[in-house]
Amino acid sequence: MKKLVIAGPTPLRGEVSISGAKNAAVAILPATLLINGVCRIENLPNISDVSLYCDILQALGAKITWHNKNEITIDTRNINCNADIIEITRKFRASYYLIGSLLGRCGSVRVGLPGGCKLGARPIDLHIKGFESLGATTTISQGNIHATAKKLVGTSIYLDIASVGATINIMLASVLAEGTTIIDNAAKEPHIVDVANFLNTMGADIRGAGTDMIKIHGVKELKGDATYSIVPDQIEAGTFMLAAVASRGDIIIKNCISKHLESITAKLIEIGANVEEYGDSLRVWCNQRPSKAVIKTLPYPGFPTDLQPQMGVVLATADGTSIINEGIWESRFQYTAELNKMGANIMDQGKSAVFDGVESLVGAPVYSTDLRAGAALIIAGISAHGITEVYNLEHIDRGYENIEEKFNSIGANIKRVLED
Ligand code: EPU
Repeated sequence: MKKLVIAGPTPLRGEVSISGAKNAAVAILPATLLINGVCRIENLPNISDVSLYCDILQALGAKITWHNKNEITIDTRNINCNADIIEITRKFRASYYLIGSLLGRCGSVRVGLPGGCKLGARPIDLHIKGFESLGATTTISQGNIHATAKKLVGTSIYLDIASVGATINIMLASVLAEGTTIIDNAAKEPHIVDVANFLNTMGADIRGAGTDMIKIHGVKELKGDATYSIVPDQIEAGTFMLAAVASRGDIIIKNCISKHLESITAKLIEIGANVEEYGDSLRVWCNQRPSKAVIKTLPYPGFPTDLQPQMGVVLATADGTSIINEGIWESRFQYTAELNKMGANIMDQGKSAVFDGVESLVGAPVYSTDLRAGAALIIAGISAHGITEVYNLEHIDRGYENIEEKFNSIGANIKRVLED
């Protein structure tokens, strides 16, 4: 079993560069299936979710050439619509984007239903409602979802919840549909804009991404023959911002978009930390104990749920009693039991948690329950006194490129160890 062994506390100091966005990459890779041609993708994060997606594309007949660990060319001229991808698609959740893209490309798709996740029920009813409004028929049996459509025809779709996944999946299904599709109450996260920009670069006609109404005018074909560079990862940048504050450090975060980080910047300034913007870089520093805060996670541009556990580490040692209300997922406080093993004083009930700030954390063996919980535990280990061992690294490797190398380059002391 692999683990990270972290010796702390080490205030983080120096410069770190942000990779391409995971949640854009896992939508852009399946989006390449809509292209009848070749495209080049740059700034692709080197994470296990991306390599899994590349395996799926290759199983479907795509030809992939790696230029280096972050740049690939994908040739999707010859796709085998009948390839059996059920088992491989069960391995991770973002495989649901294959439904939208293969419906658009092949008119038929069969994938394993997204695997169980620790964040809550995670239904995909809104995705299905969207596909059916466009003219598809869907059936679920034996843990698989089968969707078919003789023809997809544009229509107006109102999303009851501004779901990231449903917005992107409906966008994918409607790019090659006949006529115009309107997604109302669309999600506005930066990676939605990035997927739309990618598709437009390849020949699609999508307008309004980043607002709550997206219009997709169906086109006959996506020709590709273009290069696209993935947007910097908002959540990775936010993770380093929060790590700087939790460790009482001073870092420069390069290759990030400060506009995407405004909700985090505002909270950090409110609790007494410092943030300065310089073009595509941010300096974040904090040399005293931050003050308490009340946080509610919300869809973009609100405070992101994917930074809630990392913010929880900051509040665990803040001065006073803080409250976090989780507005997106039912079970996103499992990391609090792990932080309590490190001396934190957190009580959670359902979608709220109360953080009674302690002076400092103490190292302990802890288990990551999901990707962002894992990032939070690393930050806790960097900030805590003594040795922290973080287990279940497969969650962390799904979504953070070279995480320990990046933290070590700014002063952390983290070793990846294979335990007998
Ligand atoms: N929902 C439904 N029905 C649906 C779809 C969503 O009820 O058909 C509900 C969900 O249960 C949830 C809310 O709507 O309560 C929002 O879910 P959303 O669809 O926006 O989430 P997602 O697309 O499944 C993406 C990210 C998550 C991130 C959320 C929220 C990807 C691959 N995943 O998930 O990222 O937490 O948006 O921003 O883009 C992560 O990166 O660690 C991660 C979990």
